[in-house]
Amino acid sequence: MARKRVAIIGAGPSGLAQLRAFQSAAQKGAEIPELVCFEKQEEWGGLWNYTWRTGLDEYGEPVHCSMYRYLWSNGPKEGLEFADYSFEEHFGRQIASYPPRAVLYDYIEGRVKKAGVRDRIRFRTPVRMVTFDEGTEKFTVTAHDLVNDHEYSEEFDHVVVASGHFSTPNAPEFPGFDGFNGRILHAHDFRDAREFIGKDILLIGSSYSAEDIGSQCWKYGCKSVTTSYRTAPMGYKWPDNWEEKPLLERVEGRTAHFRDGSSKEVDAIILCTGYLHHFPFLPDDLRLKTANRLATADLYKGVVWVHNPKLFYLGMQDQWFTFNMFDAQAWWVRDVIMGRIALPDSKEEMLADVADRVAREDALEDDYACITYQGDYVKELIAETDYPSFDVDGACEAFFQWKKHKKQDIMTFRDNAYRSVITGTMAPLHHTPWKDAMDDSMESYLRN
Ligand SMILES: Cc1cc2nc3c(=O)[nH]c(=O)nc-3n(C[C@H](O)[C@H](O)[C@H](O)COP(=O)(O)OP(=O)(O)OC[C@H]3O[C@@H](n4cnc5c(N)ncnc54)[C@H](O)[C@@H]3O)c2cc1C
Ligand SMILES: NC(=O)c1ccc[n+]([C@@H]2O[C@H](COP(=O)([O-])OP(=O)(O)OC[C@H]3O[C@@H](n4cnc5c(N)ncnc54)[C@H](OP(=O)(O)O)[C@@H]3O)[C@@H](O)[C@H]2O)c1
Repeated sequence: MARKRVAIIGAGPSGLAQLRAFQSAAQKGAEIPELVCFEKQEEWGGLWNYTWRTGLDEYGEPVHCSMYRYLWSNGPKEGLEFADYSFEEHFGRQIASYPPRAVLYDYIEGRVKKAGVRDRIRFRTPVRMVTFDEGTEKFTVTAHDLVNDHEYSEEFDHVVVASGHFSTPNAPEFPGFDGFNGRILHAHDFRDAREFIGKDILLIGSSYSAEDIGSQCWKYGCKSVTTSYRTAPMGYKWPDNWEEKPLLERVEGRTAHFRDGSSKEVDAIILCTGYLHHFPFLPDDLRLKTANRLATADLYKGVVWVHNPKLFYLGMQDQWFTFNMFDAQAWWVRDVIMGRIALPDSKEEMLADVADRVAREDALEDDYACITYQGDYVKELIAETDYPSFDVDGACEAFFQWKKHKKQDIMTFRDNAYRSVITGTMAPLHHTPWKDAMDDSMESYLRN
């Protein structure tokens, strides 16, 4: 029988986890399918692959990167460590708990370099369309080799969508925007906090982007930060030049007017209003349509497309757990593809699993319960594969501590250290408090 062919769309942390999962099986002697990973960027790492570019890239493709200079991990690394590749293995010693982007990029890259999977990736090759033929039971993937400007199609038995969901901005408009006398941008296009030195900035949204971009701008010397919430304020103890306001109602000239009747003169507005799950390369019958939540719509076990179980999605959930959850998913998907895990016979059974996950998520009362819920999901998946088991409760505990540290002081939480659940060693404290550490290079961070 011909070897199965599997297409993986995206070489970010999720797609790389899929490549590593198969390579790990091959290392143990299993015969694995033929893998082709399509990646539209010229390098792997997904969002962690930083570029100064915004808008369209040199080939006219939408820029994927939503990260910015000086970005440090917003959660402890002890919550995301790969169970099969520890920070100590990569760096030769334990490192501090909130690494900057470049350090995490190096770590992500280290594992896949060791695994030797690079030759499975076709870089600079965005997938344009995926279709499924009911007769042959095969997918046709149409991709564009940008370098040679050549579009082609190939057949696959399975498709794994790992294209991420934090790159297409959700960008609402507010009255008066077209007459605003300053810059308006979405968080996706934010690159360098130094642009806003001495400026009064307004951020719309009350989640991680608003918190972190505001903190960056504060750290690098903006004049003031105003954040505007739709549902609830973030409620941290902010520095004196930071205030939280209800939702923006309209802008007139440079004046922003808020729902409580107050107003503020601002120089720039940054929409930290989240992202859309966006799959322009998938037709209606294969395209995931979901809110950004822990229990996604239509994915059995959070990964199998219930309407066609030969199609899988990785990393489509809102994320407390990241790299280790993508691993748990990738190992599980691998085992379905290799026939080691059987799927339910009926679509109804798979839909019931989705409904159960949604109902359980809807009943969660706070962030702590959400973290435990996602931790339990990771445990559920890793129990069914040979992914190295690890202390998921310990990782949840690192997140609980992180939340407490943020409540204590939002500008110092990154100065804390936690214990690795993979190697058991305690992280060292970083040599410089986050608010004073202006150099985010790997050399600087590792100088402990
Ligand atoms: C600003 C920001 C900061 C974050 N910070 C953290 C953090 O500190 N810690 C943390 O754990 N997580 C963080 N995250 C969460 C982040 O989602 C994950 O860490 C991780 O990058 C998700 O991996 P992924 O592979 O699922 O998606 P991505 O990283 O988005 O990778 C998807 C890949 O698919 C490729 N692709 C997309 N479409 C196509 C196509 N049509 N054809 C071919 N290739 C395609 C892209 O080029 C990209 O390489 C952050 C997210 C954002 C937006
Ligand atoms: N340093 C870092 O590591 C870092 C930095 C930034 C982001 N991130 C990551 O990036 C991901 C995305 O975070 P995010 O904050 O961009 O998105 P998000 O978590 O989805 O939050 C979106 C925010 O936008 C608000 N919003 C949406 N539509 C709106 C509208 N029409 N009007 C007003 N407000 C609106 C939401 O308000 P409601 O509450 O009312 O819905 C919410 O506060 C997360 O995984 C996060 O961890 C990490």
